[in-house]
Amino acid sequence: MKKIFLFLASILAISSAYAEKVELRTPNNSFIVDLDKGAEPKFVYFGPALKSQDIAELPRLGGGNGGRAELYPAYGATHTQSETCLAMRHADGNMSTQMLISDYKLQTIKDKAPNGADRTGELLTITLSDPIYPTTVHLYYQSYDDVDMIETWTDITNGEKKTVTLTQFYNPLLPVRRGDVWCTHFHGTWASEAQLTEEPLNNGTLVIKDKDGVRNAMVGRSEIMLSLDGKAQENYGAEIGAALLYSGNFRITVDTDDTDYHYYFSGINPDNSEYHLKKGETFTTPRTALTYSTTGTNGVSQAFHRWARRYQLRHGNQERMILLNSWEGVYLNVNQEGMDQMMHDIKSMGGELFVMDDGWFGDKYPRAVDNSSLGDWVVDTRKLPEGIPGLLRDAKKNGVKFGIWIEPEMANTVSELYEAHPDWIIKAPGREPVKGRGGTQVVLDMANPKVQDFVFGIVDNLLSNYPEIAYIKWDANAPVMNHGSQYLPMEDQSHLYIKYHEGLNSTLKRIREKYPDVIIQACASGGGRVTYGVLPYFDEFWVSDNTDALQRVRMQWGTSYFFPAIAQASHISAAPNHQTFRSIPLKFRIDVAMSGRLGMEIQPKNMTDEEKELCTKAIADYKKIRPIVQFGDIYRLLSPYSGHDLASTMFVSEDKKQAVFYWWKLETFKNQHLPRIKMAGLDPNKSYTIHELNRIDLRPLPCEGKSYSGAYLMNIGLEMPLSHTVEYNKQNDWSSRVLHLTEE
Ligand code: DGJ
Repeated sequence: MKKIFLFLASILAISSAYAEKVELRTPNNSFIVDLDKGAEPKFVYFGPALKSQDIAELPRLGGGNGGRAELYPAYGATHTQSETCLAMRHADGNMSTQMLISDYKLQTIKDKAPNGADRTGELLTITLSDPIYPTTVHLYYQSYDDVDMIETWTDITNGEKKTVTLTQFYNPLLPVRRGDVWCTHFHGTWASEAQLTEEPLNNGTLVIKDKDGVRNAMVGRSEIMLSLDGKAQENYGAEIGAALLYSGNFRITVDTDDTDYHYYFSGINPDNSEYHLKKGETFTTPRTALTYSTTGTNGVSQAFHRWARRYQLRHGNQERMILLNSWEGVYLNVNQEGMDQMMHDIKSMGGELFVMDDGWFGDKYPRAVDNSSLGDWVVDTRKLPEGIPGLLRDAKKNGVKFGIWIEPEMANTVSELYEAHPDWIIKAPGREPVKGRGGTQVVLDMANPKVQDFVFGIVDNLLSNYPEIAYIKWDANAPVMNHGSQYLPMEDQSHLYIKYHEGLNSTLKRIREKYPDVIIQACASGGGRVTYGVLPYFDEFWVSDNTDALQRVRMQWGTSYFFPAIAQASHISAAPNHQTFRSIPLKFRIDVAMSGRLGMEIQPKNMTDEEKELCTKAIADYKKIRPIVQFGDIYRLLSPYSGHDLASTMFVSEDKKQAVFYWWKLETFKNQHLPRIKMAGLDPNKSYTIHELNRIDLRPLPCEGKSYSGAYLMNIGLEMPLSHTVEYNKQNDWSSRVLHLTEE
C-alpha cells in the first residue's frame, strides 16, 4: 500500500498526508526522506535515482549506533549529546526545543531561479512545530527537472509572544555512511586562493569556516566534496558535492561521533551572531545545494557547472567578451591617453572589451595612491578631463566595449563621503575605527538602509547616465576589522554579519532588477567572493590577484571543482609576474589563461611585436574554442597536486563533437618521465582530428592534422614531447600544449 502512495507522491507530485517515504528526484539522483506526522523528519537515502521497488526496500536509519536519521535535530528536548541544526532560547529562557512534523507537501514548481531563468522541479515543504512553543520551522527541499541538484534551506518563525534568540541555525543535515570517506575542501589566502586539501574523515569534527565578514571565500570555501569509497578520483567513484550558497560568515562541519555515519552540517556561522527573532518574524537560512555523482569529482563539477550556467550565474548561456583590464598595466595611473592607447591595443589584438580599473575617481581627494577617495565616485578630471563621456567616445572609436571598476561597499577615512557620513562605517561602539588598506580604508555598514541606497546609487548613477557602460568590476578589499554597527541597536549588535549580507544581497538584487544586462564581475581582493551566495547577481569572478600562470594552474584547478570556466576570469599578465616575480614565457601564460574566461592584464605598449602577434593569434583561436570552454563539460585529467610535474584538463562540448585539451608541464629536469594523459568525456565511436593552438614549434606535433577515435584518445592518449622545438636561443624550460579536437 505504501509503495503505491510513494509512487503517487513522486509521480503525480501531489500532497500526501499518508506517504511515509517521500522521494525528490532529479534526472539521476534520488533524495528520500521518511515523514510521519508527530515524529521528526528522517533521512532515508541520497544517491543514484532508484526504482520504486527498491525505494520500498530501503532500510531506515536509527536506533543504537547504526546512525541517527533525524534531519533537523533541535537542541535540548531530546537531542543534547549530538550536534544539532537548531538551538534557541525561547522567550521565557527555556533552551530546549523539539521539532516534530505537523504537515508536509510535495508540489511541482515552476518559478524563477536566482539568475532570473525559468526553472521547473519539485518542492518538498516540511512544517515542524514544537509541542509546547508556537515556534515553527519549514524545511525545504527543491529539485530541478533538468539538473542533478537538490537545494535545501529553512525558515524559522517566532510565534511566541516575545523575542526568541537563535543561537544555531544550520540547514538540515546530511548523514553519510561511514566507510572510507574522504573530504575534499579548499583553503587559501590573498594571492593563493582555492588550494585543494583532501583528507580522510575520522572521529571528531572537521570544521571549514570563513569569518572575514565581507570576503567570505578568501580563506575558507563553503563547497566540499565527500568521496564515499576512498580518496577522490576524477572520473569514477561515488562522490557527493555540497555547497552553501552564502556570501557571509559560514561554517561547514562534518561531525563523526559514535555512530556508523558522518553528519554534514552547513549554514551561517553562529559565532558572535546570535539572532533575536521578534514576535511574528521569520528568519530564512541560505540554501545548501547537493549533488551525487557516480563518476567521481568530474561528475560533481559537471552537475554544479550546468546548474550554475543555467540557474545561478547571470547570463550563464552567453559567451563572455575577451577583455583587457588596466590594473597591472597602469595601476592607479589612469589617464585619458593611456586608456585610449590600451583600448586601441586590445582591439588590435582582437579583444572586445576594455575595463578601466581603480584610480579614476575622487575630486577633493583624488585617488593618487590607495589611501583615499573610496566613496567619492566622481571622475577625477585632472586625470580624465573629458570624463566618462570621453572614455566612451574613445571606446566607440576603437571598436571596444567599455567597463569600469568600483568598490561600492567601502570608504576611506580620507574621503568626502566619510566627512559627511562618519556614522555609515562599521566600527566598534565607543572605539576608534580599525583601518585597512592604505591605512585609511573602512567598510560601509550594509546593514544600514541609507548605505544600501548609497551603494545602489553608485551603480544607478553610472548606468543611468552612461548606458553604454557594458561591464562593472565590483571590488571589495577589506574584512570586518572591528565589530560594530552604528545603525543596529545595541541589543542587536550580534546581527551585524547577517544584516551586512542581507543588505548586500538586497542591493544587488535591486541593481539587477533595474540593470539586468550589464556584465558584473565579483572581485574581493581577488577570489574573496567566489561563492554562489552572490553569484546570481554576477557574471563572473576574479579568481585571484595572483596572475602567475603556474600558481593559476593550481588555483583555477581548485576553483573548477565547483565553478565553471565561463565564470573564471583568467588573464594574461606580464613577465616577470607582479606577484611572484617569476618569469614565465608568454606561450605558457596564454595556454593557462585560455582555460578560463580569457582576458589580459598587462600594458600592451610594453609588449614586443612578436608577443602581440602571439596574443592576436591566441585571441583568434580562443574565439573558436570559446563555446567549448565556456559551455562544455569539464574533465580534469591529471591534477597539479598529483606530484607528476604535470597537469592536464579538457572541456568537451555537450554534443561531443568538439573538445579542447590542455597540457601544462609544471617542472623540468633531465630524465623526467611524464605520464601519457588519457583523455575523457569523448564519444568512443567518433573520430576526432587534432589541431594544436598557440603553436610556437618549428615542427608540428606528430598528431597534428591526424584523426583518432575517441576510444583511442581515452584509452591510449597522445604522447606530448617534453619541450618545444624552437630556435636555439628561444629555448627555455617551459612547455605547454592546447589541442583543439573536432569531429571529422
Ligand atoms: C583588488 C583587485 O583584486 C585588483 O584586481 C584591483 O582591482 C585592485 N583591487 C584595485 O585596487
